[in-house]
Amino acid sequence: MVSVSEVAPPQARGHYDGLVRADGRVHRTLFTDSDIFKHEMLKIFGGSWVFLLHEAEIPAVHDFKTITVGRRPVIVSRNEDGSIVALLNRCPHRGSMVCSLERGNAARFQCPYHGWTFLNNGELYGVPYRKGYGPAFDKRKRGLGRFPRLETYRGFVFGSLNPGVEALTEWLGPAREIFDWCIDQENLGPRGVSVVKGMTMVYRGNWKLQNDNNGDMYHAPVTHRSTAEMNLARHGTGKTLDHFKSDNNPMLAKYFGHGHKLLDQRPSIDSPWERARPLPGREVMGDAVVQRLGEAAARAYLDLTGRSGINLVLYPNLMMMGHGTFAVYEPLAVDCTNVRYYTALINDAPPEVNTLRIRFSEDFNNVAARDDNEIFERIQTALEDVPEMPWLDFSKGLDTDRERVGEDGAVTGNISDETGIRGSYAWWKTLMQRDFTPQALGVEADEGRSR
Ligand code: FES
Ligand SMILES: [Fe+2]
Repeated sequence: MVSVSEVAPPQARGHYDGLVRADGRVHRTLFTDSDIFKHEMLKIFGGSWVFLLHEAEIPAVHDFKTITVGRRPVIVSRNEDGSIVALLNRCPHRGSMVCSLERGNAARFQCPYHGWTFLNNGELYGVPYRKGYGPAFDKRKRGLGRFPRLETYRGFVFGSLNPGVEALTEWLGPAREIFDWCIDQENLGPRGVSVVKGMTMVYRGNWKLQNDNNGDMYHAPVTHRSTAEMNLARHGTGKTLDHFKSDNNPMLAKYFGHGHKLLDQRPSIDSPWERARPLPGREVMGDAVVQRLGEAAARAYLDLTGRSGINLVLYPNLMMMGHGTFAVYEPLAVDCTNVRYYTALINDAPPEVNTLRIRFSEDFNNVAARDDNEIFERIQTALEDVPEMPWLDFSKGLDTDRERVGEDGAVTGNISDETGIRGSYAWWKTLMQRDFTPQALGVEADEGRSR
């Protein structure tokens, strides 16, 4: 059993109150201190629900995918009976990573060091030269560590290493309604969705910079100005960022609790299809869908391409962009992060619709996400190198009449306000100070495992 005191930096324990302030200030060390980062991997990525994958990524029996959860290598596997398990990809013998493939289909995993073999539910299946082990060697206690909590919500699989974590629906809270909205968009036919992997972006910066950014519309007209100007020059008004010209608009920023936040641009976007800027093949594919289905049905499908107008960040690591696109934040180090993009394809949709969904997902990220990455790297450098200015300011919207609390407890502000980001930092502090005992699964804790 690992105790928190072994991992928590002494200077951080009990001091998070001072690092995240009620006036919207957040201390730079949250982005630069490697001890705080280690503590986050334990208390946030080890203590909360974390998004693992979409079940359509492992559709067949024995399919698996490897991921990381707060830097821990993890195998997510579909077993013989169709159930899904998440296993720590760390051999209980001498610690080697057991599976190094990104994905595949396997009923068993064999460790490449001495050949211990595990069933894909984590149980130890066999060891070479078994007679060399004495009577105390209990195969049942030498399985791969298994996540004690795993739940699938309408295809999205979440896991937690904290056995006492709240129920998944409680964790979603009022964010569940907009999460359902995203999923309902894909729920058009009986054959469900497939999920394809899109681009991966790595930036030299802390993972929270991306998490903040996806709840931040304040930056868009400034950071992405070149994109907006290019669109205007080439395609005229009404494309992509054109709807965000002032602070006075009906769009919303929202904080739901449990760290989850939303930017909702839908009140200013009538038609995602009309709003989307041209890209190669857009008109040809659009015409093909109209020919196939007729104007009205085609339009319903084409409005599921382009950008849906929402960013929903489910804390800590999932960002739903709607229209099938979602992103996963993967912290690699205090100053290095992977962001992986995926697109859900509607199995019953015309093929052009799915191609357009992928193309539009690539389009915005290629022209705009690289702007954000450049900013993240500049921030990271400055936070590391300028100790004389220790604070960041997330106070926009605070103590103004722009923020209001709904009956469900969610806080709504203007789209440019830092309402959601501030909420996420309040939750960050809650998680970092939450009293739970991390469980080392596998050899030591195997007795309680359900079999
Ligand atoms: S480390 Fe895996 S079998 Fe030895
Ligand atoms: Fe951006």
